[in-house]
Formats: sequence, structure tokens, C-alpha cells
Amino acid sequence: MTGLSDSFQRPINYLRISVTDRCNLRCIYCLPAEGIGLMPRQALLTYEEIYTVAKAAAELGINKIRITGGEPLVRSGLPKLIQMLAQIDAIDDISLTTNGTLLSGYAAELKSAGLRRVNVSLDTLKQDKFEFITRRTTSLGDVLDGIEVARSAGLNPVKLNMVVMSGINDDELLDLATKTITDEWHVRFIELMPSAGVSTRASQFVPVSDMRKRLELLGELEPCLPSVGNGPAKYFRLPHARGTIGFITPISEHFCFHCNRLRLTADGKLRPCLLTDYEIDLKLPLRRGISSAGLKQLIKEAVTNKPLRHHLAEGYTPKNRPFSQVGG
Ligand code: 5AD
Ligand code: SF4
Repeated sequence: MTGLSDSFQRPINYLRISVTDRCNLRCIYCLPAEGIGLMPRQALLTYEEIYTVAKAAAELGINKIRITGGEPLVRSGLPKLIQMLAQIDAIDDISLTTNGTLLSGYAAELKSAGLRRVNVSLDTLKQDKFEFITRRTTSLGDVLDGIEVARSAGLNPVKLNMVVMSGINDDELLDLATKTITDEWHVRFIELMPSAGVSTRASQFVPVSDMRKRLELLGELEPCLPSVGNGPAKYFRLPHARGTIGFITPISEHFCFHCNRLRLTADGKLRPCLLTDYEIDLKLPLRRGISSAGLKQLIKEAVTNKPLRHHLAEGYTPKNRPFSQVGG
């Protein structure tokens, strides 16, 4: 295997695949209240097309895949896709990012299909707050059940992602952190990113430095290594905690210089950067019967054009796609 690297010599081994732009929630930091225009179904890559792209990417050096959305579990037959991807020799880690609402019903099937682990969005432990943040009356209990069922099914480590927003859920920082002690949870606190068309504002941004100060009320944060994963989080443990606390700092300390990712949108565009509008279409070439060599050429082209870094801190936000289309 040759291995893929971009024009800044960053090795690229991680492909995030968005399987749908649809979602059963409307989180305030992700989507406008009215939702967004959805892609017509025939615009979505089929599972066979996704498999073809993943296989070509694996032959170039991709060895980790994460499935994202929208909410990936609203696309029917997702375990089938996992099973197909798990057959690709070079892929040694398949993970899923989900809002957890449908997870309890799928966890066992996903595990036996070859999924290794899940990340679940969990921004609050309170039902009323959950309804406010997700703009839906879905039961938070469904998400909490999903987390427990996933853990019992062996989709470990289950990582819980909290987007911290001032005046909305930042009062729950200590409660979630305490769960790393009482329930061995692995919690990650994420800085709010600006996104086109959403109702969150810059004044709701909480820098990780503030979060850390507040968490120190619970004891010293001891640095530790992630158990598995390839993401940008930095990990710590509270005294006596089996679980971990991670921090993700897209704004205050961008981690672009270590970025190893490529993204495939649900409608078949390859995006070398979440936060830059540049993308290459693979769908039309796939539907016109492009060869594996041709496909690899396009993947290499996207990698070569991977930008050095994003410019959110300077006020530049991508224009043409909300996070729900690129998988966060
Ligand atoms: N800021 C930070 N994280 C976000 N996500 C989506 N939108 C944002 C945003 N504006 C991340 C969250 C969510 C996952 C699906 O994507 O972690 O849990
Ligand atoms: Fe759906 Fe996830 Fe966006 Fe919330 S953050 S609206 S769960 S895609």
C-alpha cells in the first residue's frame, strides 16, 4: 500500500461517510428550525456506490471509516452497509456518529455487522433542555437507553459528545463530567462552531479554557491517552474516574495541522475539509461507470487540494452546506 498524503505531507487515512442529510431532530446548533431543503432520494449514493468509493479509498490507504449523517440510523438498512464495508480488507475500524434516538433498536445488529464503536450526541441530561436543544419532543430516555444498549452490545468505547453552549447547557458541565466517575462514561466537550443559518450565536460560545476552569472544581484533570480513536480530542481523567473527559477545540485551538480526514457527502461529493466549500463530485462519474483507477485519481485530486486549515476564528464560515449535510 502506498498511503495517501496531502500537499502538506499530512497522512490521510480516515474517511467520514455521510449516508443521509435527513434527521429526526433539529438541534439548534446544526439546523434551522424549519429544516433545510432535503436531497431527493435519487441524489443519494446507493450502498453499492458508497462501497465502491470506500474500496478505492482503502486501496489508496484509508483504513478507518466513520458513518455520519444527518442521522445515519434514519437511512434504512444501515447494518447492511456496515457489513459491506467490514468486508474491505484494509478497513480496520468502522465507527458511527448518531443522535442515539434509534440506537437501542439497532446496536446489536450493527455490532454483528462489524461496527466497532459509536459516538452519541448528548448535550443535556434534562428532558426539557433536550426538547429545547433538539426542537423535538422525543424522549431523552430513548437516547440514554441507546447508550446503555450500545455499551452492553460491546460498541465500546461509547463516546458522548456535548456541544457546550453558554446559558443553554453549560450549567450541566459538572453533571456530565461526574458521569465519568459514577458511570464510567467517556464524555467529550465540544466548542460551538458557527454554522450557516442556525440560531446559535457567538455569545453562546464557551472556550475550552473556561470549561476546564469550571471542571477543576471536581479535581485535577490528569492527561491520558485516548483508548481508541483518531480524532482531535485531548483526553483527561478526574481523580478516581474510569471514564474520560475529552475536549474538542475547533475554534480556540484548531487542529487542522494533524487532520487525517476526507469526507464523502450523502450526495457523493468528496470534501477534503469540513469547513471549506471545495468538493469533487464522484456521483456522476460513478453513474457513468468510471473505472477504479479513474475513481482513485479523483480521490487523489481531492486529497491534493485539501486546504491547510479552516478560518472560522477569522470569521469565515463555509457557505454551501450545513453540518447536517457533511456529518459534523
Ligand atoms: N458546533 C459544534 N459541533 C457541532 N456538531 C454539529 N453542529 C455543530 C456545531 N455547530 C457536532 C456535534 C454533534 C455532531 C453530530 O456534530 O458534536 O453531536
Ligand atoms: Fe440531527 Fe445531529 Fe444535526 Fe442534531 S446535530 S439536528 S441530531 S444531524
